[in-house]
Amino acid sequence: MKKIIIAIDGPAGSGKSTTARLVAQKLGYIYIDTGAMYRALTLKVIELGINPNDESLITKIAENTKIELLYENGNLKVILDGKDVSEKIRSPEVTSLVSIVSAHPKLRDIMVKKQRELGRNGGVVMDGRDIGTVVFPDADLKIFMTADVRERAKRRQKELKAQGFDVEIEKLIKEIEERDKFDSTREIGPLKKADDAIEIDTTNLTIDEQVEIVLKKAYELI
Ligand code: C5P
Repeated sequence: MKKIIIAIDGPAGSGKSTTARLVAQKLGYIYIDTGAMYRALTLKVIELGINPNDESLITKIAENTKIELLYENGNLKVILDGKDVSEKIRSPEVTSLVSIVSAHPKLRDIMVKKQRELGRNGGVVMDGRDIGTVVFPDADLKIFMTADVRERAKRRQKELKAQGFDVEIEKLIKEIEERDKFDSTREIGPLKKADDAIEIDTTNLTIDEQVEIVLKKAYELI
């Protein structure tokens, strides 16, 4: 069977990570959550007390940072320089700074190289903002997931509640809109649908339905 590259992009909370992880599991592929990579680096920036606008220092740090994505019982474990940061990278503080850190062009160069290396042998599902446009413009299957912003905020609210954070829905809508705007308007690797991507609106879809749609497209190619 051919081992393809599946790129899944979309705005915050559109369901891409859960879908990508489950599709990878079904196909026996590796799953790369590139958002988790940018989040891990942002956590390091915060912990070192570095100005998130300091591109040259952040780039230097990125060159000397080891980020590993491991799977245990179907769950993603993010290891930053040997330490498990899976929970910390989802904190509101990291979420509020990750777009600023990840907009630096030189940093993106380093991250994109790492991501290409991870997906080089195919058999990969990678999700993010620029996978189908920049990281793997020749990906075999490109998906662009969207959903109504209120629905996305509701999903985020549920995730945060499970982590012990109670956040109002209106606040989350505002945060998501701001982050999407920042991610869509940056110069390098903006959040953007690739011309040849298949768009899926997940507002009224269950996770199972989203996975089913992507798998069906994948099976047509392998
Ligand atoms: O996917 P997630 O919401 O965890 O991504 C967090 C942030 O990481 C995004 O808002 C974006 O700023 C950045 N990101 C990126 N490029 C990617 C994946 C994520 O710039 N490929």
